[in-house]
Amino acid sequence: MKTVAIVGSQWGDEGKGKVIDYLATQADVVVRGQGGNNAGHTLVVNDKKYALHLIPSGVLNPNTINVIGNGIVFDPKGFLDEIEKLEKESIDVSNIKISDRAHIIFPYHKELDALAEEARGDNKIGTTKKGIGPCYMDKTERSGIRICDLMDEEVFHKKLKSQIEAKNNIVKNIYGKTNLFDFETIYNEYIEYAEKIRKYVDDTSVIVYNSIKEGKKVLFEGAQGTLLDLDLGTYPFVTSSHPISGGFAIGSGVGPNMIKDVVGIVKAYTTRVGEGPFVTELNDEIGEKIRVQGREFGTTTGRARRCGWFDSVIVRYASRVNGLTSISLMLLDVLTGFETIKICTAYKIGDKIIKDFPASLEILSKCEPVYEELNGWNEDISGIDKFEDLPENAKAYIEKIEEIVGVSVDMISVGPDRSQTIVRKNIF
Ligand code: GDP
Ligand code: IMO
Ligand code: MG
Repeated sequence: MKTVAIVGSQWGDEGKGKVIDYLATQADVVVRGQGGNNAGHTLVVNDKKYALHLIPSGVLNPNTINVIGNGIVFDPKGFLDEIEKLEKESIDVSNIKISDRAHIIFPYHKELDALAEEARGDNKIGTTKKGIGPCYMDKTERSGIRICDLMDEEVFHKKLKSQIEAKNNIVKNIYGKTNLFDFETIYNEYIEYAEKIRKYVDDTSVIVYNSIKEGKKVLFEGAQGTLLDLDLGTYPFVTSSHPISGGFAIGSGVGPNMIKDVVGIVKAYTTRVGEGPFVTELNDEIGEKIRVQGREFGTTTGRARRCGWFDSVIVRYASRVNGLTSISLMLLDVLTGFETIKICTAYKIGDKIIKDFPASLEILSKCEPVYEELNGWNEDISGIDKFEDLPENAKAYIEKIEEIVGVSVDMISVGPDRSQTIVRKNIF
């Protein structure tokens, strides 16, 4: 089996899009299985930048089938906007498949996302306001509307009518709003989308399963990251899906034994957008330097990302809960020009040493990082294509990460472009 899951190992934005795009040149199928257009995956090829949110990152490769799996929450408007942008760039979008089981995001999901955030006040999560949480809430509450429903006018009419009534009830009676959702407007808007997306809709579990059985190369593209996982992340400051490797079996509709390797995408430092504790966060000029050198501003919301040193408690945790078989270390070039670089090896509260990432945010917010300090490097590494040619201190940094995390770093990224990639061991 030639199947590889690509998962975010920190709080998202680790560079998953770049790795998928790089590997997709050899892959037959790329599958997204969770999340929605809260994701922002950036691909850079020959200085040209593409920002993808819902469309899988294999789309630049004309021979790759790009699957939006059943576990996705699908925003038709967001999807069609992305298609339009890609078509303007003469990218072939005919190889995209959308699961007929995926749930659909409606305007009321976005509104409820914003209203819930406002109501949380100081406890806000810092969501992307794309309606992700409310759409997954409808799914688990068993009142969601799926793509297969949208494909049938009669069924869609009935389900939407009932949902608009239910959501107007909430908006009016819980949030005290008078500006309600109009059934006809939303119905007509979505019926138009239905005709535009019909040609992409398929039973994608069959496509993925058959591809694997035929020995094709299949990549599972994670969105978000381990610490944003609904079960294993920094709850409640998480997203509403399962970005860990286990999420792929459910989200793409194949058995877990069909996923052979799991590659953890790891930033050479740590970032997060949104709220919640962050042990190695740097609220000083070093954090600012990382933010500027790494251009750490969100692809989806434009928000400045919070930055900090590499946290091996997090990456060891990611290795355990995802079953990592390999690491791709990203944005190593961003650490050029620091006199010393710190790696957090454990947490401590008073004299107590903590090595396993804690569940309780009250405990996490009391944790202090235990650092090991390594020498930095000043050489520009963005044009290097062999591990041996990296500065000695950069090699030592990578080897230290391998030693502490216990997983080999098989790919190293030294710049945003597809070509700025060092391969130590082939993934496929
Ligand atoms: P994703 O959500 O995991 O796909 O990551 P994002 O695309 O949101 O964020 C990663 C950012 O880092 C993007 O702007 C990429 O173009 C950029 N990037 C990826 N790899 C590298 C790298 O090795 N060096 C630098 N400088 N930028 C990189
Ligand atoms: P990619 O795939 C980083 C964060 C939001 C917020 C929390 C919940 O680009 O790595 P949501 O809108 O999902 O309900 O927000 O999750 N978040 C991300 N952070 N990268 C992402 O995706 C994210 N998608 C959601 O900032 O803290
Ligand atoms: Mg991103």
